[in-house]
Amino acid sequence: MVKDFISLADFNGDEILAFLDLADKLKKMVKDGAPHPLLSGKTLALIFEKPSLRTRLTFQIGMYQLGGKTVLIDDILGRRESVSDMAHNLERWVDGIMARTYRHEHVVEMAQCVHVPVINALTDLLHPCQILADVQALRERKGADLGSLKVAFVGDGNNVFNSWANFARRVPINLTLVCPPGYEADPEITACAQREAKGEFVITHDVSAGVRGADAVYTDVWASMGQEDEAAARAEIFADYQVNAKLMALAKPDAVFMHCLPAHRGQEVTDEVIDSARSIVFDQAENRLHAQKAVLATLLRGGKQAI
Ligand code: CP
Ligand code: NVA
Repeated sequence: MVKDFISLADFNGDEILAFLDLADKLKKMVKDGAPHPLLSGKTLALIFEKPSLRTRLTFQIGMYQLGGKTVLIDDILGRRESVSDMAHNLERWVDGIMARTYRHEHVVEMAQCVHVPVINALTDLLHPCQILADVQALRERKGADLGSLKVAFVGDGNNVFNSWANFARRVPINLTLVCPPGYEADPEITACAQREAKGEFVITHDVSAGVRGADAVYTDVWASMGQEDEAAARAEIFADYQVNAKLMALAKPDAVFMHCLPAHRGQEVTDEVIDSARSIVFDQAENRLHAQKAVLATLLRGGKQAI
């Protein structure tokens, strides 16, 4: 197994499913009140160039529940000293580094120059931790046979979708991106997914065709962190891609609604959908804790099976 958690594409399907199974076990241990100090005495550095609620708190709470500690760095990488100099300092003190950066290359560079695991907590390109939590929530609602499910991601082909595409390259699932022209996913990841996807992989601009038969309808903000200047223009371009009751009616009657959060209510999703019984957004948010603990408990122990 690779040392770092940068991209789901770096893992094989069995390794990804092992993270998910461990996340389920750790979730049950939390519910049962069973202590699990697998990372006793270990420290994780958390680097945030961008804002965060879920990622910041779940990594802190996760390390606490695993018996370890976190230290926080709120800074833009490469501004005060080089990325590699900073990383070489950190590896002398901590047992792992989690980073949320603008440039994906900075997380990759850090991983390459240190001996401790580096965990990608969102870059402009990818958000792999999110997808582990999402799939954990999806399995809880729809069962473990992911290969029979269709996920329709409606909106921007952004970092969250790119990581879903990487997931679909490794684990059987049917994945469709429904987006306005010009807002498709990363071309390199798309080409790989078209070649390697274990299920159907479709990119379409047609909302009805894309959402038809979906077991899960997923959306995310139209303008991601760092794209704030484009927000007004994007609001017009994406208007027909809003997930509202009419759009949800195109999916299967028992389809769930998913969103990584934070949501811009009234833009990419309406209140009636995100607040409906079909919405599993807070299950996804809850599972950030358990899924990331599975990654931490595996990688910070050198890939050894945790429990
Ligand atoms: N979904 C997600 O990553 O949330 P935060 O930006 O609040 O961490
Ligand atoms: N695509 C969003 C995800 C936030 C969790 C962003 O990058 O801002």
